[in-house]
Amino acid sequence: MVSQDQEEFHKEYGGVVPEIASRVHLEVINPLFKRLMEKTRLSVDEISLVAVTSHPGLLGSLLIGMTFAKTFSLVYKKPLIGVNHLVGHLLAPALSGEAIEYPNVSLIVSGGHTELLHVKSPNEFTLLGATRDDAAGEVIDKLGRVLGLGFPAGARMDEIARKGNPEILKLPRPMINSDGFEFSFSGLKTAAVLVLDRKRRTKLRQKDFIASLEAAIVDVLIAKLKKAVKSTGVEEVNVAGGVSANTLLRQRLYEWCDRDKLKLSIPPIEYCMDNGAMIALAGYHSYLSGNRDNMSLDCVAVADWE
Ligand code: KG4
Ligand code: ZN
Repeated sequence: MVSQDQEEFHKEYGGVVPEIASRVHLEVINPLFKRLMEKTRLSVDEISLVAVTSHPGLLGSLLIGMTFAKTFSLVYKKPLIGVNHLVGHLLAPALSGEAIEYPNVSLIVSGGHTELLHVKSPNEFTLLGATRDDAAGEVIDKLGRVLGLGFPAGARMDEIARKGNPEILKLPRPMINSDGFEFSFSGLKTAAVLVLDRKRRTKLRQKDFIASLEAAIVDVLIAKLKKAVKSTGVEEVNVAGGVSANTLLRQRLYEWCDRDKLKLSIPPIEYCMDNGAMIALAGYHSYLSGNRDNMSLDCVAVADWE
């Protein structure tokens, strides 16, 4: 994979700084494209479609990607498709080569999103519920920051959690039995931070704390997924986004789907986090269903998602 991560630039701030993200996007986009062309040995003639994330996200970063994509498509006369970042995540499981089946219940779980959807086709979905406050990955990153594990902390926390005992500490599972499909993780985040404040006076080990935190998050995610499957009657479950790389979540999903004879689609680990391949795939599907985007240079990137 050709990639350029930005962790280096953001880690001293403990989160993504939008202005820094835009500047880094601007600095790396041309060299990154050059590296991609060298590595894949593709020529520009072999590129038949340009897909670009148009929403939702940080506006500055989106605009840089959009400007690059529009310029490329104008200069080389390639069709252009703007893609919803979350639709990209939804299709990421198919990058393993296995087809996603429809209708399905999909969970996008990342640093910015916790969204449960009823998906009827690659371009047709209904939002069942989302988080009212923090996303699951945001809680993991916040606690990772308090523990001094860098940013984003998901992969490192996962590694540590595997050695811990999730039974040691009982953390709240917010809204686990509530009606509907909404999530709320801010109460869990506060409870976990308070435990850490007291930790110095107790014998709680870091690995047991992290394992307990992940177990609380995963319990809620699985409970809501089960409820959504029951209510929609689908036989396929699709889980994507950075947190879908989590070992405990994957293990619990495989166990449940195996037991209940549901088909599980989940991306290979390298495609769980944000990546260009999922955007290319989403653009391809959108193009096949007849969508074309405006080639004018008045960029329309949109920070929100309706
Ligand atoms: O999808 P993504 O790359 O970016 C967003 O769209 O947010 O997801 C990043 C999130 C971060 O919160 C990161 O800590 C989390 O995914 N993450 C994980 C793991 N790997 C990444 N969380 C739990 N376990 C992991 N193995
Ligand atoms: Zn993402």
